[in-house]
Amino acid sequence: MIKVSSPGKLVLFGEHAVLHGKPCIVTAIDQRMFVKIKRTNKDISVKSSQMGINKYVISLKELKKKHPKEIRFVLKSIENFFEKYKIKSGLKVETTSEFSSKIGFGTSAAVTVSTIKALDELFKTNMEEKDIFELAYKTVLDIQGLGSGVDIAASTYGGTLYYKNGGEVIKPIKTNKIPLVIGYTGIKADTTKLVKKVSILKKRYPSLVNPIFDLLEKINKEARKAMSKKDYKRLGELMNFNQGLLSAAKVSCIELERLINAAREAGAYGAKLSGAGGGDCMVAVVENRKRYDVEKAIRRAGGTVIKANLGAEGVRLEK
Ligand code: PMV
Repeated sequence: MIKVSSPGKLVLFGEHAVLHGKPCIVTAIDQRMFVKIKRTNKDISVKSSQMGINKYVISLKELKKKHPKEIRFVLKSIENFFEKYKIKSGLKVETTSEFSSKIGFGTSAAVTVSTIKALDELFKTNMEEKDIFELAYKTVLDIQGLGSGVDIAASTYGGTLYYKNGGEVIKPIKTNKIPLVIGYTGIKADTTKLVKKVSILKKRYPSLVNPIFDLLEKINKEARKAMSKKDYKRLGELMNFNQGLLSAAKVSCIELERLINAAREAGAYGAKLSGAGGGDCMVAVVENRKRYDVEKAIRRAGGTVIKANLGAEGVRLEK
């Protein structure tokens, strides 16, 4: 029996812009997705408690068929892995997660990365991190048709990363512990819809939306400087700029704005949405002596505070 885990993610700067050629910054969080796997004589059976799937059994021949969305990423990972390494085998797979699939921490990416790493360990295919990233990215694109792969990079490599679309650049950023508060809106974001909405806006207003992306790139550069200098006041203020531009691109929503404003009012250096927008989570940079007040303000504004450490280790074999 092989057991592996990989972390969830939070985008800190440059979401959406990353799909238009600009860099973003992502961090892995210490809430993990676990995949256990073992060989069996025939059939592939998947249990995914966090997705409400108790047992789903198919024959090898049925791998290519359409499967319930809750376990599509696991089965597509197996299909792609078997195809790449010319393997045929029965399997028993079980996934469990420390985070809910509803909060935008990148469940699909983490389960894909963990499944591929587990298969790599099981069949001793000696995949490097880059191979895992590439096969996981292909798998997610096969299913979703779009995405920058930023969540896959965080799950695979861990840490905090400077990232460009499709893994064109994946560079670790050295940071100390960024003092961050995470607030969850309670609403599940529809990433695909929001990504398409931004593309439509860009087509209608190229002379306005392109400069927004250019500014987001400048903010990214400043943010990396602020991180390396541990200038968290500046980092928070840069988040405010980033949020303003995301609002202009209409991917924020009233629930996110409520939590963001509550955090700012309670003394955060700055705050913004994290990920696609339209729900999921916001993040705020908060000096330690204001943490309690900011968390309280987020709860009062209807949010749930989520505790997580940043810069967590990437995909790994568990003992
Ligand atoms: O997966 P989400 O909803 O956290 O969004 C990730 C960031 C986007 O730039 C909006 C999408 C992507 O694939 O990069």
